[in-house]
Amino acid sequence: MVKKYTGVAIALHWIIAVGIIVNAALPWIWEAVSDDAVRPLIDAHKSIGVTVLGLAVMRLLWRLTHRPPALPASYKPWEVTASHAAHWALYAIIFAMPLTGWIMDSAWKDAATHPMHWFGLFEWPRIAPVMALDEATKKSVHDSFGAAHSLLGWVLYGLFALHVGAALKHQWMDGEAELQRMLP
Ligand code: HEM
Repeated sequence: MVKKYTGVAIALHWIIAVGIIVNAALPWIWEAVSDDAVRPLIDAHKSIGVTVLGLAVMRLLWRLTHRPPALPASYKPWEVTASHAAHWALYAIIFAMPLTGWIMDSAWKDAATHPMHWFGLFEWPRIAPVMALDEATKKSVHDSFGAAHSLLGWVLYGLFALHVGAALKHQWMDGEAELQRMLP
């Protein structure tokens, strides 16, 4: 009998995974399209990003109040340590990506004249203390958080590859019912 995550944990895992994958893909797409098409893609990226942030808060609260199923007994001690480390790094990145993006966007020089709308439905707030900074500080906040956002993007690609690679290794090479743990 496979020990599974709870239904809520499974739903949050896959919705956040789709949000992260789409948001990691969008910058590659907007680099390639014409200038007119870029703005709606960046707007969608921001809306998906803040949604991921909200879901990440729910997910962390759920994780802290619900013990996940024990890892399969076949895991070697180093695999247990590595999987815990990778999972907490993934938790950190699902917060760090949207937070650095939101801070960068709040420090954007044109933020006041270009309000952000959540999927076009309602205005999403910028971070007021960041918008209140003087122009020079705002520029340095924008540039440094933009650089962090970009760097974390590369960390994300690495962690994602490790996470998927490890899950598939346990599934196919070790013969564990690994994916079933995170499937309804
Ligand atoms: C799931 C969360 C997010 C992920 C995975 C993500 C990922 C990325 C990646 C990989 C890039 C390309 C960086 C580069 O050019 O090297 C990027 C760019 C960008 N992101 Fe995000 N992002 C997320 C959330 C957000 C949020 C919440 C905002 C703003 C509210 C945001 C605003 C931006 C902007 C404005 C850029 C373009 C920067 C530029 O080239 O000028 N992102 N994002």
